[in-house]
Amino acid sequence: MIGYDIKDKGLAPEGRLRIEWAGSQMQVLGLIRERFSREKPFKGKKISCCLHVTTETANLVCALKEGGADVVLCASNPLSTQDDVAASLVADFGIPVFAIKGEDRDTYYSHLSSAIKHGPDITMDDGADLVGLLHREYAETRLKKVIGGTEETTTGVIRLKNMEKGGALKFPIIAVNDSDTKRLFDNRYGTGQSTIDGLLRATNVLICGKTFVVCGYGWCGRGVAMRARGMGANVMVTEVDPIKAIEAMMDGFKVVKLEQAMPYADIVVTVTGGLNVVDQKHMELAKDGVLLANSGHFNVEINIEALKEQSVSSRKVRDYVEEYRLKSGKRIFLLAEGRLLNLSAAEGHPAAVMDMSFANQALAAEYIVKNRDSMEKKVHVLPRELDLEIARLKLKSMGVEIDELTREQQEYFDSWESGT
Ligand code: ADE
Repeated sequence: MIGYDIKDKGLAPEGRLRIEWAGSQMQVLGLIRERFSREKPFKGKKISCCLHVTTETANLVCALKEGGADVVLCASNPLSTQDDVAASLVADFGIPVFAIKGEDRDTYYSHLSSAIKHGPDITMDDGADLVGLLHREYAETRLKKVIGGTEETTTGVIRLKNMEKGGALKFPIIAVNDSDTKRLFDNRYGTGQSTIDGLLRATNVLICGKTFVVCGYGWCGRGVAMRARGMGANVMVTEVDPIKAIEAMMDGFKVVKLEQAMPYADIVVTVTGGLNVVDQKHMELAKDGVLLANSGHFNVEINIEALKEQSVSSRKVRDYVEEYRLKSGKRIFLLAEGRLLNLSAAEGHPAAVMDMSFANQALAAEYIVKNRDSMEKKVHVLPRELDLEIARLKLKSMGVEIDELTREQQEYFDSWESGT
């Protein structure tokens, strides 16, 4: 159990302080944690979490433990683990962690297996790797015990809906990603800020005046494009969806095909969830010194194999920056091995935004315990009332008050007769 070994490295004290710092900005989760502590909704339940091992995740798993859960954590990405956080969770909070930053593929999957062998009643996933492995390799054993799971991210929700469609999904899932208090803030403002943060920590390049290409204009792409513009870049957007393309255009971005953008691009960031978005033909068109990065869930958006095949040499020039020299002499810089830049080179989304995401996770897990008998083996969304409650608590924690409808105004909205 790698997680138990980490405490020997003496990282725990720093991890603990950073976990506290994040917790001080997660007031909504803090309130839920206090209630969990009194009510113990997870008494007798085992929860296996497969999430990025960050200070924010630490606050979530502590809240689950406080609620009576027997909880373990493994990483949802080989490069996103903060080792000091893992060490502190093990040493200070007694929560087993199976994760180490930079782990190879086999270790990553053996850690997922360790989390599954915990024998969860509930799974908490980010990207659906845990649920996928559970269905593939533990169908006759651990899978049968699971009453439900939650999913954090767009890519995971897409995979799970495919499982549902194919009749393969064996327990209900709550798509936390699809709550408004998650997607509209975490995906947009979280990814927007943390991607720029990762780019700056990895490279320290000047952003203003650069041609910055954002591939994908979902909520994450919107966030990255908005923040890159805010830093003074000339931002171009590429899309495959005609509606999103118009939105990007009317938000003031130049919308082009990636082939058209590549000769001008200084920085290219993929946030599509798709495969080989930056492919060989695009790399051939790139100008010398282009930075390629990805903030989508998996490291499949940049065709790294094609990049390697075209290269005559490669070398690490800084942490998270690999220089590839092509046969033409041109250099392409790949950031963070094409993995999530924001969680590899920086610390992921800030705590204040993860507060809402993880309030959703905590309430979703509680909802599964309470409603397990009535939930179909499908992908569900959290009830609107819980989404709204999280928003109300978030506003309150920020000291913001909003108006309320009068009875007369509510009746007006509820009627169909009153037009003029
Ligand atoms: N996903 C994006 N940012 C994150 C963070 N800070 N913690 C956990 N998961 C994340």
